[in-house]
Amino acid sequence: MRVIIKDNKDIMANWAANYVAYKINKFRPTKNKPFVLGLPTGSTPLKMYAELIKMFQKGKVSFAHVVTFNMDEYIGLPADHPQSYHYFMQENFFKHIDIKPSNVHLLDGMTKNYEKECADYEKAMKDAGGVNLFIGGVGRDGHIAFNEPFSSLKSRTRVKTLTESTIKANSRFFKSEKEVPTKVLTVGIETIMSADEVLIMANDKNKAEAIKHGIEGPLSHVWTISALQQHPHGIILCDKEAASELSPETRAYFMEIEKDNF
Ligand code: GLP
Repeated sequence: MRVIIKDNKDIMANWAANYVAYKINKFRPTKNKPFVLGLPTGSTPLKMYAELIKMFQKGKVSFAHVVTFNMDEYIGLPADHPQSYHYFMQENFFKHIDIKPSNVHLLDGMTKNYEKECADYEKAMKDAGGVNLFIGGVGRDGHIAFNEPFSSLKSRTRVKTLTESTIKANSRFFKSEKEVPTKVLTVGIETIMSADEVLIMANDKNKAEAIKHGIEGPLSHVWTISALQQHPHGIILCDKEAASELSPETRAYFMEIEKDNF
């Protein structure tokens, strides 16, 4: 696993955006061979999206041949609900870039048939050639996508029930805690780990415990971020605050070996 520690969240977002653009450009995607990108919502990736929009406007990257799959969606929120992940992606990213609407994939939280929706989503990823780069954030309890503690590390896309702690954390975006949906559709841990490369981003002190468990803890379904330890090309990108609970030796090691790397 690579661990990249940046001084603050702005530098971190900048690095992430440049890395995504570099990966897309290096791949030289075409209509028949698109670059497949897994995407997260949340406050963590917002600056990365803003940076990617600027890079697109300057002609440094194009999304014309990029196919996206979002990680998750709340059950019961229609696409035009301001707290749905459909809405988030549209407002914060898709409407500002040259991506084709038919290349965008999000789970439908309004579906009547969860099993079919999840199976179709897995199939669509496979049909697209698999995900080249899956980007994610992390919850305070170490969840990636909505894979709450005790999610199977072999899980695929399915329905999950949120923990009280996640409902509380995400209630900051809703009028009240009662309005936060308790169930979601989410890609599984194995779905994320099937990507060629996985980049998990974390900033701020409240992610420090999750980052410590993900990097220094054992592989465990209690902290699902730890699944990244088994990925051959996993990257954790964090700011100094999110890295603050790592041992000084771990921090020093990664800061030294990554200092000149992209
Ligand atoms: C939600 C999302 C996760 C995200 C997490 C952290 O639970 N399902 O994908 O990583 O929130 O969000 P934030 O970046 O706002 O801290």
